[in-house]
Amino acid sequence: MKKIFFITGNKGKVQETTRKLLPLGYTVMQKDLGYPEVQADTLEEVAVWGASHVQQRFDGCFIIEDAGLFIDALQGFPGVYSKYVFLTIGLEGILRLLEKVENRKAVFKSVYAYCEPGKKPLIVPGECEGTISTKKQGNHGFGYDPIFLPVGAEKTFGEMTVEEKNLYSHRGKALEKLTVMLREKD
Ligand code: IMP
Repeated sequence: MKKIFFITGNKGKVQETTRKLLPLGYTVMQKDLGYPEVQADTLEEVAVWGASHVQQRFDGCFIIEDAGLFIDALQGFPGVYSKYVFLTIGLEGILRLLEKVENRKAVFKSVYAYCEPGKKPLIVPGECEGTISTKKQGNHGFGYDPIFLPVGAEKTFGEMTVEEKNLYSHRGKALEKLTVMLREKD
């Protein structure tokens, strides 16, 4: 088994990543080192900045990931502010902002940075289109999962198992690309 460290405080992300990387022979080890999240315009910038910060303090092979929910009717908000918005107005706040709004389209985006010591990080993005539900549904997963309905599914991420969510999700899509990349490297 090869070891890869996932620098995150989010156990849900670790579970989703483990399901995808374990079959490839990777044990995903969570390491909650913490790193400041730069206020940038894109998730890519946040991931690159975070990766270089971690690289200065950690000398192993690791991944970090940054995600965000981009809502059409709110011109992409909360986007890079998703964490702050989740912690402040929360799911109820988002549902209130979208009350009586017909266009409920949204995109969930994920960006992984895969890092080896002394090398530039590799950036691996993934996206999932969907809609915002009118009420919270399900209590699986984390964050915005109970209000995000991916295209092609009849339930929210909050009503899905980790395996199901990975089939549709932004993170699942990014992890598909990451697994191809890791296979080519091995
Ligand atoms: P982070 O900065 O990548 O941790 O995520 C920003 C915000 O989006 C946090 O509040 C997370 O809980 C939320 N979030 C990230 N990924 C997901 C997901 O896959 N489903 C639901 N919420 C998520």
